[in-house]
Formats: sequence, C-alpha cells, structure tokens
Amino acid sequence: MNEYFNQRAQDYFNNSQSGIWGLVKNKEIKTVIDLLNIENGFKVLDLGCGPGIYLKHLKDKYSIEETGIDLSPQMISYAKEKLNLNCIVSDIGEYESKIKFNIILCLGVFEFLNNPEIIFKKSNSLSTKDGQLIVLLPKNNFLNKIYKYYHSNQGCATYLHKKEAIISLAKKYQFELKEEKNLFHCHVLKFYLI
Ligand SMILES: C[S@@+](CC[C@H](N)C(=O)[O-])C[C@H]1O[C@@H](n2cnc3c(N)ncnc32)[C@H](O)[C@@H]1O
Repeated sequence: MNEYFNQRAQDYFNNSQSGIWGLVKNKEIKTVIDLLNIENGFKVLDLGCGPGIYLKHLKDKYSIEETGIDLSPQMISYAKEKLNLNCIVSDIGEYESKIKFNIILCLGVFEFLNNPEIIFKKSNSLSTKDGQLIVLLPKNNFLNKIYKYYHSNQGCATYLHKKEAIISLAKKYQFELKEEKNLFHCHVLKFYLI
C-alpha cells in the first residue's frame, strides 16, 4: 500500500482540485469543516493525512496547531515542502505523542484498514477529554464497490466497513456519535470522547 500511495502523491493534491473528483472532494471538505467545532489555538491531528488537503484548508481559515501523519513518505514530503505543514511519516498504530489533540481527523483511511479498531484505540489515547473525532467512511454501496475494485485491482486491498460496526467500535473506546452527515457516497461521522 505504501508504494501505491507514494506513486500517487505528487498528483494527488492537484487531481483532487479538478474534474469530477474535485467536485466530490470539495463537497467532502465543506461537509467536514461545517461539522467541526473549531477555535483558534486548537490542536488538530490528521491520521492518514495524505498530502495535507484538510489541514491546509483548516490552516487557511483558523490559527491551529496542526499535525499530520501518514505512512507514505512521498505524501508527507508534499505536505511539508509544498504546503508547509507540520507532518511526519508514521503508521497510525505506531504514532505516540505527549500532546493531546482537540480534534482528530481520519478521512478516507478506514477503507484501507482491515482492522479499523486501531483508529479508536489511538484516538482515545491522543484526544483531549472532550475531543472530537471526525471519520469519513465510504458507504457500502454499488459506487464504492467499483471504487474497491479499482484499488484492489491495482494491488491495494480495500475494505468497505459497515457504519454500525464502526459506531460500535467507537463506543468501545468511549467515543459517542454526536452528529452525522450523509453524502451520496460516504458517511461523515462526528464523535466526542466522553
Ligand atoms: C485516500 S488517502 C486520503 C488522504 C487524506 N486523508 C484525504 O482525505 O485527502 C489515504 C491515505 O491513508 C494513508 N494510510 C493508510 N493506512 C495508513 C496507516 N496505517 N498509517 C498511516 N497512514 C495510512 C495512505 O498512505 C494514504 O495517504
């Protein structure tokens, strides 16, 4: 998977700004940003940040302290060098920090994880007491079965998790679902650590 995303890193940001993907991505970004309760000074962690699209949008609007982590060194060098973001190469499961985050994002990543429990386990240990966790989860529908086929066919295993299973995993790690938005292809879920 690492090689798969390394190869796509240089074009990922630009491709996500144009064509049909651009329209879809802009809708996702607006939905995520509208869901956030965000203030200047917040610490924001983006798990599987890719080239840093979400952190860049948030930094343009708010004075936040951002951290992005991603497995792909090429994605991270784009985020650092082109977008001037504070990002590091790490597997989500191995990331440790003394800092606690007000907001944790995990967007477009669950579908690449066979066992998504690690996201909630990590988020529980990295979140402030009343911290928010925002998850973007592809729906298990026909469109995403094509998406899954597209990635899997190129050697990147993809999984479509059921929303109920994700909500129940979240509960196990004290994350309560507070709000959700439905786009035609994905759920955007906002949890709070209780
Ligand atoms: C489809 S991209 C989404 C990027 C970004 N979140 C966005 O929505 O624009 C998925 C990213 O998740 C990263 N990723 C997948 N599994 C990971 C893991 N276990 N630890 C860190 N990053 C991971 C990949 O390297 C890739 O950059």
